[in-house]
Amino acid sequence: MPKLTYFGHDAFLVETSAARLIIDPFLTGNPLTPVSASDVTVDYVLLSHAHGDHFGDALDIAKRCDATIISTFELASYCQSQGAKAHPMHIGGGHDFDFGRVKLTIAHHGNSIDTGEGLISMGPPAGLLIAADGKVLYHAGDTGLFLDMKLIGERNAIDLALLPIGDNFTMGLDDAVTAAEFVNADVSVPMHYDTFDLIKADPNEFVRRVQDTGRKARVIKVGESLDY
Ligand code: NI
Ligand code: MN
Repeated sequence: MPKLTYFGHDAFLVETSAARLIIDPFLTGNPLTPVSASDVTVDYVLLSHAHGDHFGDALDIAKRCDATIISTFELASYCQSQGAKAHPMHIGGGHDFDFGRVKLTIAHHGNSIDTGEGLISMGPPAGLLIAADGKVLYHAGDTGLFLDMKLIGERNAIDLALLPIGDNFTMGLDDAVTAAEFVNADVSVPMHYDTFDLIKADPNEFVRRVQDTGRKARVIKVGESLDY
């Protein structure tokens, strides 16, 4: 049974029977996170996209741990150019790793990186489907609501869905509740809220409203772990 630990914003540690993964490791500068990047030991770093609040400490962690970064071709190639190990994939493609299968999904958002000389486009952003130890996790990344979430839900028996609720840059509460209906996971969990004033949202309202549709939802507190 995989174990998920929330590090705030969109950062999660996933411990499977075969490997330790971190998703969107924005730790340095994250006002909510209880851990520092230097304390993280992982085998893989999964990136939904390159924005600073997701890319975060990816390169430092990957290089120190000799971990493999898994992301879209553009972002994985950039990471390789910066001296990290990376496995490039793209939307709709899946790959079997030693811990399980990762498939990239669409996400409606931007994707760029600031190298200090302006923004460089990194191609499309992605969502992540991670199948390991017989369980399926969907990390939606940064995205607006899209109807194909229904297809993602129909084609994958998702045990746990991580959905942004913070509004402004991603879905807000109303759309996130509809996303939870579309994805139809066993349990939906809110993310991408309260890190900054601009994305303040009430995760308990999300939970109540998803429960009103007859589905399960819960908040994972920052620093809290959940076996799923
Ligand atoms: Ni973003
Ligand atoms: Mn973001």
